[in-house]
Amino acid sequence: MRKKIVAGNWKMNTTPAEGVELIKAVADLKKDVCPEVELIVAPPYTHLCCITEIAAKAGISVGSQNCAAEPAGAYTGEVSAKMISSLGVKYVILGHSERREYYGETSETLNAKLIQAYANGLTPIYCVGEKLDERESGKYFDVIRKQIEEVVFNLSSDQVSSLIIAYEPVWAIGTGKTATSDQAQEIHEFIRSVLNEKFGDLSQQVPILYGGSCNPSNAEEIFSKKDVDGGLIGGAALKAPDFISIAQKFPK
Ligand code: 13P
Repeated sequence: MRKKIVAGNWKMNTTPAEGVELIKAVADLKKDVCPEVELIVAPPYTHLCCITEIAAKAGISVGSQNCAAEPAGAYTGEVSAKMISSLGVKYVILGHSERREYYGETSETLNAKLIQAYANGLTPIYCVGEKLDERESGKYFDVIRKQIEEVVFNLSSDQVSSLIIAYEPVWAIGTGKTATSDQAQEIHEFIRSVLNEKFGDLSQQVPILYGGSCNPSNAEEIFSKKDVDGGLIGGAALKAPDFISIAQKFPK
């Protein structure tokens, strides 16, 4: 049985004070979520200090949205995996399409970031996904295979045994246009088959989350698919009732 996970990527939203209110609201509603479902929130760096304790008391895990590719030193503006981990943060989102697109993150950068994450006890949530033109031209399988092969294939089996992957089609992020559950299942199954080529049966253990305009109305259908193990939620994670409602949508 793979873990069921709903993770909220807050992106660059909320002030720290608003973030505290949001995590408190999520914590208050967590009782309505089945205990087998792991809830993760990934606020901006500035919020981590004031959120981790509240989250921990409520049994909610915390992730950061990024980490530096280097361990320490003269890298103005960067935040190391060690700094993040020392706050009690458990996860780090890496390879999000917004970071690939706006900040030029390549497989090379991401390999370095994953090394830092694992070295400091952070579990990566590694994101993959194709752009609209790659979907329309039918190249999406190649794009996703490359994103997996160039990064995940460099990990050890031990590291893969704690890895989480998120499939986020870029054309579905923040657009209100979600992938159909069949489209999600097709890619999740494909990701698992690519993992199987290198890691064998371990591929069955890796949780694969869907992300891209996931909301309380479509989560049930998406989560009903056998290779979909949960969601990485953007906009809907900023409203506690919506985030919690999504976490209630796993098949019984
Ligand atoms: P939306 O849910 O706002 O489409 O964002 C998805 C996402 O990018 C989560 O990382």
